[in-house]
Amino acid sequence: MSRILVTGGTGYIGSHTTVELMQQGYDVTIVDNLSNSSVDVLDGIESIVGRRPDFANIDCNNYVDLDGVFEQFADIVGAIHFAASKAVNESVEKPLLYYRNNLGSLITLLEVMREHQVHNLVFSSSCTVYGQPDAAHLPVDETAPIQKALSPYGNTKQINEEIIRDEAYADKHLNATILRYFNPIGAHPSALIGELPNGVPQNLLPYVTQTAAGIRKELKVFGNDYNTPDGSCIRDYIYVVDLAKAHVKAIDRMLNAKKRDQVEVFNLGTGHGISVLELINEFQNATGKKVPYSIVGRREGDIEQVWAEPRKANEVLGWKAETPIAEVLASAWKWEKHIRKIN
Ligand code: NAD
Ligand code: WQD
Repeated sequence: MSRILVTGGTGYIGSHTTVELMQQGYDVTIVDNLSNSSVDVLDGIESIVGRRPDFANIDCNNYVDLDGVFEQFADIVGAIHFAASKAVNESVEKPLLYYRNNLGSLITLLEVMREHQVHNLVFSSSCTVYGQPDAAHLPVDETAPIQKALSPYGNTKQINEEIIRDEAYADKHLNATILRYFNPIGAHPSALIGELPNGVPQNLLPYVTQTAAGIRKELKVFGNDYNTPDGSCIRDYIYVVDLAKAHVKAIDRMLNAKKRDQVEVFNLGTGHGISVLELINEFQNATGKKVPYSIVGRREGDIEQVWAEPRKANEVLGWKAETPIAEVLASAWKWEKHIRKIN
C-alpha cells in the first residue's frame, strides 16, 4: 500500500479527500495545526472508512516537525498540500499572515520532500487565478490568461504556482499537479464530515444553510444588475466529494502514468455555471426549506461570471463531476442539520 501525506487533512476538502484516498486503499498521514479545523474530524473519517488516518498536529512551516513526519513514515510516496489560510477578506486585512502561512508552508513542504526524495505533489489552487475571464474564455480552460489577483489570498495561489514551476525546473525529479478548484460545496452523504463554519459565513452555501436553519435572518444577494440572464453572479459549484475523487485520480496518475508533463494543471468544475438566484431556488426545491433573501448592492471585488471547461480533467485524469446539484444541496442541508442538532 502507498502512503500519501495530506497537509490540511482535517480541513474541509482535505477530510473528504482523505476518505476517498483511504477507500481506494491508500494509507494517509494527515498533518494539520488545527488552526481552522477540529481533531474530531478524525473520528468522522474513521466512522466512514473503518480505519483511522495517522495524524500529526504540526505546523507545515516548521521544517523540523515536518521532517520528523517524513522520518516516521518512510513509505510516503506523495503529498497533497491543502494547508493554507483561505479567507479572502481576512487576507486583505492581514496580508503578511497570508503570505507567511501560504508561501512558507509550501516552501517548507517542498524542501522536506526534496530531502526525503518524495517526488509527487498535488497542490490546491483556485479558479481565482483567472479573475474575470473575457467572453472568449468562457467557459474557462487551463490556457486562459492568469490575471492580477484581487486579494493577497489570490496572490498566494499565483505565487505558489510559480514556486512549484520554478522548483520543478530546478529538480527534474519533482512531479506536480496543480488543481484549480471552482466553488466547492456540500458535505459527505453520511453527514459525518463537512465544512465547519467559522463565524459569519462569507461563502454563499453556508450562508444559505444557516439561513434555512434560522441562524441568519435572511440571505443578502449581492447584486441583481449584472450582465447575466437573471442579473445575479454565476459560478461553477462543484461537489466536494467529486472534487475529492479528482485528487485520488491525480495521485493515481502521478504514480502510474507512463508519460506525463512534469507540471500538469487541471480545472476542476462541473462545466455548468449557475446563478445565485438559481442556487437558492434549487436549494429550496431540493430540501423543501425556505430561504428568505433580499437583494442588496454588489459585493466589492466580485467576479460577474465564471465557470469551468473541465474537458482536460475529464479526458486526461478520467474524472468527471457527476453528482446532481439537488443531491449536493441536500447533502449540505443534512450536514447543517447534523451540526445544529435539528431535524
Ligand atoms: P480549510 O480551512 O477547511 O482547510 C485547511 C486546513 O489547513 C485547516 O484544517 C487548517 O487548520 C490547516 N492549516 C492551515 N495552515 C496550516 C499550517 N501552516 N500547517 C498545518 N495546517 C494548516 O480549507 P479548505 O476549504 O479545505 O481548503 C483547502 C485548500 O483548498 C486551501 O489551500 C484552499 O486555499 C484551497 N481552495 C479552497 C477553496 C474553497 O472554496 N474552499 C477553493 C479553492 C481553493
Ligand atoms: C459566490 C456567489 C457572491 C455570499 C470565493 C473566493 C475564491 C474561492 C471560493 C478559494 C457570489 C454571492 C455570497 C452571500 C451572495 N476560494 N453571495 N451572498 O466569491 O466565487 O469565491 O470562494 O480559493 O477565491 O473568492 O464564492 O461563495 O463567496 O460567492 O450573494 O452572502 O454568491 O456575490 O456571486 P466566490 P462565494
